[in-house]
Amino acid sequence: MIKTGKILILVAVMIYFFTDTPVTANETVKKRMFVSPQDIGIEKAVERAKKTVRMIDDMYKTFIVLVTKEYVTDPTMFSALILSKKVFEAMSKKGWHEARLLGTDETPHNPDNLPKDIFERGAVEALLSGQNYYEKVEKVGNKYYLRSATSVIAVMQGCTICHPGKKVGDLLGAISYRISVEEYFD
Ligand code: HEC
Repeated sequence: MIKTGKILILVAVMIYFFTDTPVTANETVKKRMFVSPQDIGIEKAVERAKKTVRMIDDMYKTFIVLVTKEYVTDPTMFSALILSKKVFEAMSKKGWHEARLLGTDETPHNPDNLPKDIFERGAVEALLSGQNYYEKVEKVGNKYYLRSATSVIAVMQGCTICHPGKKVGDLLGAISYRISVEEYFD
């Protein structure tokens, strides 16, 4: 009996140390690993997923910039970034893709934007070292996902209204995407 208890504690400790924080709260802890698309012959499917990410990333950022430009004049106003998080949530609920706003500073506006797993920590490190894009292909169970993170820069003076201490051109954070790699055979 005591032996079983000890083994259970050991297993719990091992699970705690060897599993990474899930991306979404409702995602059950499944075995996740990063793979190379070349090794498993899914390059074409990954290329399609990358193109989709480029398109949605451009769309989100265009909205963020336009909303800031057209509506925001002082820091008490509703931020385009809060709005974009609501859109991310709606898209995720519909099963299109997952997107998360990521802070690259140690103390982002919202602690919820701190990196949450190995991928996001790697992305923040890469972006802080000067890269503007970071990606990995992740295998969860028997499904593949493209994880990518694109830098978010203070592209206009309007951004600095609410991000004091930053100037135009500075890195403010990233958007972290997770999109399923769909394979079609023709
Ligand atoms: C009206 C104020 C306001 C303006 C203007 C603004 N932001 Fe923010 N920003 C916020 C707030 C508030 C958050 C935290 C949102 C949250 O997660 O709840 C935030 C968060 C962020 C984050 C995530 C990192 C962090 O600190 O949490 C990025 C990246 C970001 N903003 C980029 C931009 C860019 C780019 C612009 C200009 C196009 C911009 N912001 C303009 C208020 C603003």
